[in-house]
Amino acid sequence: MAERAAIVTGASRGIGLALAEELAENGYAVTITARRPEGLERTAQALRERGFDIEHLAGNMNDEAAIREVVARHRERFGRLDVLVNNAGVGIGAPAHQHQTKFVDLQLAVNLRAIVLFYRECAELLRAAGAEHRAALVVNLASIAGKSPQPWLSVYSATKAAVVAYTQAMNKELNGDGIKSVAFCPGFVDTDMSDFVKASIPAEEMLRPSDIVEALRFVLRVSPACVIPEIVFQRRGETL
Ligand SMILES: NC(=O)c1ccc[n+]([C@@H]2O[C@H](COP(=O)([O-])OP(=O)(O)OC[C@H]3O[C@@H](n4cnc5c(N)ncnc54)[C@H](OP(=O)(O)O)[C@@H]3O)[C@@H](O)[C@H]2O)c1
Repeated sequence: MAERAAIVTGASRGIGLALAEELAENGYAVTITARRPEGLERTAQALRERGFDIEHLAGNMNDEAAIREVVARHRERFGRLDVLVNNAGVGIGAPAHQHQTKFVDLQLAVNLRAIVLFYRECAELLRAAGAEHRAALVVNLASIAGKSPQPWLSVYSATKAAVVAYTQAMNKELNGDGIKSVAFCPGFVDTDMSDFVKASIPAEEMLRPSDIVEALRFVLRVSPACVIPEIVFQRRGETL
């Protein structure tokens, strides 16, 4: 059995990939998942070539069966779970009078429902790790939009505010079992997801995936008694 193991969703690129790399570099066996098989396969292969212990399984996080399958595969391969990173997310902007139901449902499912289902499916493994070292960790990718909801990105903002709320509830419910949760709330990060805004906010003025990695290092290093419920990352000049 691996000494430490993690699951990272949305890990084929962007923030999820950076967090998966950080965990792998620190000796974690990591299951990575993303929606499209080709990109995920390439990423998994590149990580294995660096000597990391990687399982991968593609699946759409709006699909309950896919979530169950990812967790089952992880359990079968690694037998333990110390860190769960709920990173996969999708943002689709629209004004209030033009929301398409399918996009409302997709954002609710991927950004929020998947997190609830991952906690449920991973509960037993996380409890076992928490009983062992009192520092099992769940990282939930929220957004600064969850702290300061935005027009046009209103549904996305609402899902991310819900992620912050769910994280708080999980701390109240699970800290006693040695399971800590943190909501990361970044402003724009230079990834594919923020491409739509790069005409007005240049990439070099955005946060970097490495900034989010620094936060992961921090929350992993604090003592088991120390719970960090959320971290807000503002871009210089940005206010809530
Ligand atoms: N970038 C930002 O400015 C920013 C700011 C605040 C918060 N965030 C949050 O940070 C997280 C990661 O964002 P990012 O910028 O790294 O995004 P990204 O570059 O667009 O990457 C998204 C990742 O999630 C996966 N994914 C997307 N939809 C999925 C689905 N339905 N099922 C399974 N996997 C899916 C993608 O897989 P495929 O490649 O297969 O599509 C990819 O691996 C998200 O939750 C996002 O809301 C981002």
